[in-house]
Amino acid sequence: MSSSTAPEAPIAYTAEQLLESGPYDEPLIAGGVRCHGGFDPDGRYRSPRTLHRGPGILGWQQQVIDAGHELVEIPRSLMPPQYPNVEQAKLLLRHGVRDPIVRTLTVISIVEGFGAVIRDVKVPDLGTLVVEPIEGTALAHLDKGLFEAHARDEAGYEAEGGHKQMWEAARDLALENPKVPGDVLMRMMGRRSRGEKRERPYPQLDETLERMIAMMSQVLVVEVFAEGTFQWGIDVLSDPEVSAEPERAGAMVTYIQSDESPHVEYLRAALSELRCRTLRTVDGGTLAGRTVVDGMLNEVLGNMTRNRPREQRDDLREGLVEAMQVASNPKALLEEFEALTSPWTPPASTGFEPAAVRSA
Ligand SMILES: [Fe+2]
Ligand SMILES: [Fe+2]
Repeated sequence: MSSSTAPEAPIAYTAEQLLESGPYDEPLIAGGVRCHGGFDPDGRYRSPRTLHRGPGILGWQQQVIDAGHELVEIPRSLMPPQYPNVEQAKLLLRHGVRDPIVRTLTVISIVEGFGAVIRDVKVPDLGTLVVEPIEGTALAHLDKGLFEAHARDEAGYEAEGGHKQMWEAARDLALENPKVPGDVLMRMMGRRSRGEKRERPYPQLDETLERMIAMMSQVLVVEVFAEGTFQWGIDVLSDPEVSAEPERAGAMVTYIQSDESPHVEYLRAALSELRCRTLRTVDGGTLAGRTVVDGMLNEVLGNMTRNRPREQRDDLREGLVEAMQVASNPKALLEEFEALTSPWTPPASTGFEPAAVRSA
């Protein structure tokens, strides 16, 4: 879109512009809640806050490429399978076992709402911490609209719903306003707080910068892996055999899915910009941005490919057998369910190891 922009021309927007959606022909209403985004006159859904953000991100990415660098790419082969997978979810629903799926969908909606924390990420003075200029880059816009747009997309803004409300609506359409267990959030918090305090991976960096890069790496991987969750949601909720509103529930997830694309892409742009630059250390030295970005991504990918399948399984297993008691033959159902489990072996390499390790 903005490929006509000369690479040397900095691409600059105001925060207001990056938050602008432009006019819609019709708003998106989900579960009675007015949500972000809306429809063009031809009935096509258009994501919120993309009027300038969309072309801006493309332009920033193009600058990286034009300067002879590559964009960070998270290999989709590293994405662990969903638990329960599509077949397992449909099996449970066909047998009237709804609680675990209601729970899974509710967890997804809560996680989306947590996305609002991105607006609290502190952005240090990048102009002094990065050796090369950052004017007119995605990096220069993180705290000038990009993080805020992301937060609003996930959690909603003021009276307008976001992904949290859209997932709830998809769940309630497909499963006909199911009773939502009251302990979903409590259980999630219990698991989250178990994380132990870790050492700083790059203590020679400004701590705010280190934390910002760590957070962005984490969120990028979460956003990329979420593609598996969306496909799962679409496959399950748009199946008329198990969904009461296959078209509307499935469509709702496709709207959320299309809104996620700018999240993945601005994070890719900004991390790629950092990756081809040089960072100043607190002791007056420098460190290659590539070392830090790749190191962080390697860490996140290693953890998530090892732990996420187990965490999802632990979340669901608690209460699964009990929930199956509503089926006519719970024992046979459990066996069938187990047999459908997707095999998963964490990959030996993330592709982001230091060069020496990778070639060893
Ligand atoms: Fe989202
Ligand atoms: Fe997102």
